[in-house]
Amino acid sequence: MIQRSSCLKTLIQSLRVTTPSSSPTKLAAYNCYTSQPASSLQEVSKPSASSPSNGDEYADVDWDNLGFGIMPTDYIYMMKSSEDGSFEKGQLNRYGNIELAPAAGVLNYGQGLYEGTKVYRKGDGRLLLFRPDQNAIRMKMGADRLCMPCPSIHQFVDAVKQVTLANKRWTPPPGKGTLYIRPLLMGSGPILGIAPAPEYTFLIYTSPVGNYFKEGFAPLNLYIEEEFHRASRGGAGGVKAITNYAPVLKPITRAKSRGFSDVLYLDSLHKKNLEEVSSCNIFLVKGNTISTPATSGTILQGITRRSIIEIASDQGYQVEERAVPVDELMDADEVFCTGTAVGVAPVGSITYQGKRIEYNIKAQSVSKELYDILEGIKTGLIEDKKGWVVEI
Ligand code: COI
Repeated sequence: MIQRSSCLKTLIQSLRVTTPSSSPTKLAAYNCYTSQPASSLQEVSKPSASSPSNGDEYADVDWDNLGFGIMPTDYIYMMKSSEDGSFEKGQLNRYGNIELAPAAGVLNYGQGLYEGTKVYRKGDGRLLLFRPDQNAIRMKMGADRLCMPCPSIHQFVDAVKQVTLANKRWTPPPGKGTLYIRPLLMGSGPILGIAPAPEYTFLIYTSPVGNYFKEGFAPLNLYIEEEFHRASRGGAGGVKAITNYAPVLKPITRAKSRGFSDVLYLDSLHKKNLEEVSSCNIFLVKGNTISTPATSGTILQGITRRSIIEIASDQGYQVEERAVPVDELMDADEVFCTGTAVGVAPVGSITYQGKRIEYNIKAQSVSKELYDILEGIKTGLIEDKKGWVVEI
């Protein structure tokens, strides 16, 4: 457990925000993007008299109808790199558009990473983060792959705490959803030839969210893609590069138009082994064995994936990280997906080469057992014996 940071507390207590520009009555989850000009971004340093964002009140949101959509909150966190690549003087700014050079590395060459983590509100008002240090570590790995300097683990976690506290009133009531935290690291400086950008921006924005899939908790229907691949050996599939995501838009759009929830990718070399779903990792259950594709460079090292592996091992399952041939889907007892946004989601069917494999989802499934434990730890209902939860 992390101690409450007195400096953070003081900072947040001193924040007095003006009435947010982004608070239409009962904001609906999917259509709330504002185009506030960059020039209207205000550095938050001076207390003002109205509307304290100390979290004692809730934002005016229809908490019962949250989806996974962008809803502007009060603040973003921003920190730019210095010439030597070090990060300093991060600050909270009012939520709004940011300014970028037309030749910014991220716009021209995709030099960018993103992360995702969630904040849970407890009944007593305290906020819980789940393993934010793991996001910081993963961002560092990605930054190394994309030749970017990166905030330290301490800076990353501190920034997540600051932006969380500043947007506390946007954290849904317990059981209604979470505050999704989206850290970004990008080459923001201008560059014309292919080279690392001369300046970097670390930014975090937040949005209250509910279920990632419109299916809610209903089982997912996946489609196995053979024409397109998500990642290839030696590429950047193992890190959270923003460039991993635009290429999946076409297969996802096609699959969704045919009624599927998401796409499951195969390895690009042999088209034989399972890789991952566009938005999450995948697990198969057969008897007491739980298998998941090994992360050998093309598969994202999910924090939920790693946590589920640990919880499943603690529960006595034999967990195997290995190459998982697509044929094993045929006689799996259960299949489920894991991810920060997705959580732990059961799979109801997988369609491969025109054949639909159906899974019988039992009330007492393995995925439900693991989901309940993970969710219990994240929400503070189950004692965190692993030091995963950070309370702020
Ligand atoms: C997350 O789980 O946080 C992700 O990054 C997946 C994304 C598609 C929302």
